[in-house]
Amino acid sequence: MKKKIVDGLNTKFVGKEIHYYKTVKSTQKTAKKLILKGIEDGSTVVSETQTAGKGRRDRSWSSVKGGIYLSIILKPKMDSSQASLLSLLAGVAAAKTIEKLHEIRAELKWPNDVQIKGKKVGGILLELSSGPKRVKWITIGIGLNANNKTSSLPQEIQSESTSLFEELGNKISRPKFIGQMLNEFEELYSNFNLHGAEPVLKEWKKLTSTLGNQIQVTNGDSIEGRAVDVDQNGALLIEKKDGKVKRVTAGDVSIRRK
Ligand code: BTN
Repeated sequence: MKKKIVDGLNTKFVGKEIHYYKTVKSTQKTAKKLILKGIEDGSTVVSETQTAGKGRRDRSWSSVKGGIYLSIILKPKMDSSQASLLSLLAGVAAAKTIEKLHEIRAELKWPNDVQIKGKKVGGILLELSSGPKRVKWITIGIGLNANNKTSSLPQEIQSESTSLFEELGNKISRPKFIGQMLNEFEELYSNFNLHGAEPVLKEWKKLTSTLGNQIQVTNGDSIEGRAVDVDQNGALLIEKKDGKVKRVTAGDVSIRRK
């Protein structure tokens, strides 16, 4: 697995150090341990399975064999208010990889669910440590249902989930996918460092299924309205019935109608 990933890489620093495991509790957790040991920027933790995979908003992430589970470690020079942009960026890298390697359309539901035909095929979890203003480190966890079947997932999410295997009808090469996704990630990230948020947002907007729709966002509160835009920090702007625009930085979106 590790050698095959490395063979497909054409990056300068992302994935240059791959820490590969058969199983871990969570690649995010392993990444944080490695950060404490002073690991290099761009190092990536990959595992075949996870026994305590973490999802967004304190949910668990089912991580059976056949899926893709990895965490990219970054030590960016950035303000913590911009960090969410990197999870949008990771979503773009995953969606572009699906489209390039497998010629099927992938979409992004804000903030960064990766979907195929409206069903979730992957998700992104960003965790960070920051000083008063600047980020110290970030770990971007990416989980994708690749060669696993949705019947392996918890019953309650099966009907809203899919996997690449189910969409394509055949197994994919996970090392090739990971290599390509890391290539895409580095290209987008370098572009972000050179030119700021705009190019990432432009790509994200091309891939999203959220903007323009009537939606409901739940994040403790519930907000309804039309998703009109994302701002320079990746927050979602929702125009409510009364015309006021509400800025949301976290939550779960359900799309009401087209
Ligand atoms: C979501 O809730 O949509 C985000 C899921 C993120 C899962 C990935 S799998 C690799 C990494 N390690 C984890 O424990 N979680 C992330």
